[in-house]
Amino acid sequence: MESYESVKLTSLSSKGGCGCKIGPGELSQVLRSLPAAVPDPNLLVGLDTSDDAGVYRLNDEMALVQTVDFFTPIVDDPYDFGQVAAANAISDIYAMGGKPLTVLNIVAFPITKLDKRILADILRGASDKVKEAGAALVGGHSIDDNEPKFGLAVTGLVHPDKVRTNAGAKPGDKLILTKPIGVGILTSSIKRDKLSSEEIARVTKVMTTLNRTAAEVMEPFEVHACTDVTGFGLLGHASEMAKGSNMGIRINAGLVPVLPRVRELAEEGVIPGGTKNNYAHLEGAVTFPETMDQVGQYILCDAVTSGGLLIAVSGTQAEELHGRLRQAGVDAHMIGEVVEEHPGHIIVTD
Ligand code: CO
Ligand code: CO
Ligand code: CO
Repeated sequence: MESYESVKLTSLSSKGGCGCKIGPGELSQVLRSLPAAVPDPNLLVGLDTSDDAGVYRLNDEMALVQTVDFFTPIVDDPYDFGQVAAANAISDIYAMGGKPLTVLNIVAFPITKLDKRILADILRGASDKVKEAGAALVGGHSIDDNEPKFGLAVTGLVHPDKVRTNAGAKPGDKLILTKPIGVGILTSSIKRDKLSSEEIARVTKVMTTLNRTAAEVMEPFEVHACTDVTGFGLLGHASEMAKGSNMGIRINAGLVPVLPRVRELAEEGVIPGGTKNNYAHLEGAVTFPETMDQVGQYILCDAVTSGGLLIAVSGTQAEELHGRLRQAGVDAHMIGEVVEEHPGHIIVTD
């Protein structure tokens, strides 16, 4: 195929970031202020919780899981951007314990300004990832827009008794994280031309990895709560879990996997706006160790795209789940635990 003039896609984007089912901060307040709908007993997970996706019961055996996510380019390669967007959108289905069934593409693209083959490559990337997830692409919608945006609406299925929310964590649970963090700082560094092509490939690989294997491995385990780590960052999503479960959370910072060069780039001042917002938003909800500097605190709040699952699993099964995940090729790390003390609050240790 004839190649087109390469475009630095990330230079066309203003802001990005995924807020899962509800956007971060002020946006979520607006969304939650919607007039309350008529109560529906089949709506198992709705707007009133901060979960990854909505869940609607069809019958005793089946419930729909629905989610939507789209954002501006965070990598320059169009095919990779399509893959990241798809892996990220589908992830919210896995986080709820579901299996993705169908997807719809959501496209905004400057059709008169950019080569149409760029869009074709974005769609091809997404389509390949959707295939890998075993889901079916059933359609989509596109508009002409100066700033490219891409994402997917995803519908999945889950057994109504097996919905994993972020509200069920129990004392003694261990927390397992299935991907390293630092993605926000690294993708901001792509925009600033601070990464080598190998480093871009490494962070892209983290983002395009489906949470499918992690979700399948955890399925038979006694998992009390689960979420994926995206726009609010590790501590933001852990905080949603602590509040939703009314439990305290302890995170051992030394055990949290951080991608190479993140610390160095953050020290050079590459801290995304979303990461700073997350940090500010968590004031009062997290206690950091006195020895941890500002950069270290920002890294734990770094806004992630297509991050891993954060799993609260029964303490007695944690070692086995951790081992099984690693055997299956998932970069899983045990990073903390759930405690009865300080409900709703996170204590970070070093
Ligand atoms: Co999301
Ligand atoms: Co999510
Ligand atoms: Co690792």
